Amino acid sequence: MARSEGQVGESSGMKILVIGSGGREHAICQSLAKDPLTTEIHCAPGNPGIATIATLHQINTEDGNAVTELATALGIDLVVIGPEVPLIAGVADVLRAHHIPVFGPNKAAAELEGSKAFAKEVMRAAGVATAEARVCTTPEEAAAALDLFGPPYVVKDDGLAAGKGVVVTHDRGEALAHAAACARVVIEEFLDGPEVSLFGISDGTTVIPMDPAQDYKRVRDNDEGPNTGGMGAYSPLPWAPANIKNEVQRTVLQPMIDEMAKRGTPFAGLLYAGLALTSKGIKIIEFNARFGDPETEVLLPRLITPLATLLMDAATGNLAGKSVEFTPDAAVTVVLAAQGYPEQVVSGAEITLPSENESSATIFHAGTEIRDGKLVAAKGRLLTITGMGATLEEARTIAYKTITRIKVAGGHYRSDIAASKQK
Ligand code: AMP
Ligand code: GLY
Repeated sequence: MARSEGQVGESSGMKILVIGSGGREHAICQSLAKDPLTTEIHCAPGNPGIATIATLHQINTEDGNAVTELATALGIDLVVIGPEVPLIAGVADVLRAHHIPVFGPNKAAAELEGSKAFAKEVMRAAGVATAEARVCTTPEEAAAALDLFGPPYVVKDDGLAAGKGVVVTHDRGEALAHAAACARVVIEEFLDGPEVSLFGISDGTTVIPMDPAQDYKRVRDNDEGPNTGGMGAYSPLPWAPANIKNEVQRTVLQPMIDEMAKRGTPFAGLLYAGLALTSKGIKIIEFNARFGDPETEVLLPRLITPLATLLMDAATGNLAGKSVEFTPDAAVTVVLAAQGYPEQVVSGAEITLPSENESSATIFHAGTEIRDGKLVAAKGRLLTITGMGATLEEARTIAYKTITRIKVAGGHYRSDIAASKQK
């Protein structure tokens, strides 16, 4: 039987069900396993890496009733939803309706990620600074918006696109073509300045900022090639302003949480602020409604606060007065992608991992699969390799030493993650 909210006693322990199958979910499961309150970890659908720490279940994770049935059958105390697709499909709504504590926003709140136009509207109402933008549905509107803002042009598919729906280009023809390929686009002002990912954990009322991280979105070194879901990340950011967490909390996270609560659609879960530190101050590039991937693979290994307890507090409205602490150690993660990612992924290549004693980095699985007893490439981002150290340089060396020992035909990764202090 699922417990009702707030009933979990300190001594009873927690059975947790994690939804998702990426490097993010592997990192979440690993971090949950370190919390002494965690007694069982289940994951749906999971991956071969997650299978080493959790019991896997094959269900349709976009079906709220299927997730609720599984959680009830297992006597789950907390469900943690990793990816955006089940959140936007309303899986959290069904769990909440059955009084099962869930970490992840309801459908209406997940629209902050589901629709860029909606996110812009909420930001405007909350007084949160973002790029000026126009929502366009015809080629004429798109052309007018491109000319209004000038190059470099920023054209975003309004819907979900797994990080690949955004084109930033000096080429007006390419910008127009991308606009024509999407039903509805947001065209906006280009934001100069380094990008930072800063996550707030919220129970719908209180929001607590995590340490900032930086993600590398382009597929190749020196930020060349198309956008991806993320090719690497590091944390902390030694070059970032010392007060960045407090400032983002005060000017971005809390106003957004307050505005969503005011609308009767509270955001309880992980509010991901993607920001640019522009010459005119902090401006929002995007919000996501879940942990970033691969940022999670550097943040959670640095987290001191027990994760199961923290996520349960967020799920049950108990974050007021709590804090989230990180070690000062550095973490660097590098994504190993399959041949052809992000355009034309080739699956099926066998993956050979180094033995445990050959590797001091943590290897998080993402798009891997077991076929005929062999570990093979299944989806675009295969593995995320995290090194930890006293400095970024040390962490970086450890991550790269391990990634060079992994064998997979056609596999590729960026060689410049955390190489310079600021992108
Ligand atoms: P998004 O999916 O909105 O995060 O966009 C993907 C990537 O496109 C971002 O991480 C940025 O690198 C880039 N981008 C998006 N919007 C802008 C903008 N207004 N100015 C500059 N770069 C942007
Ligand atoms: N790392 C980018 C994302 O999770 O969307």
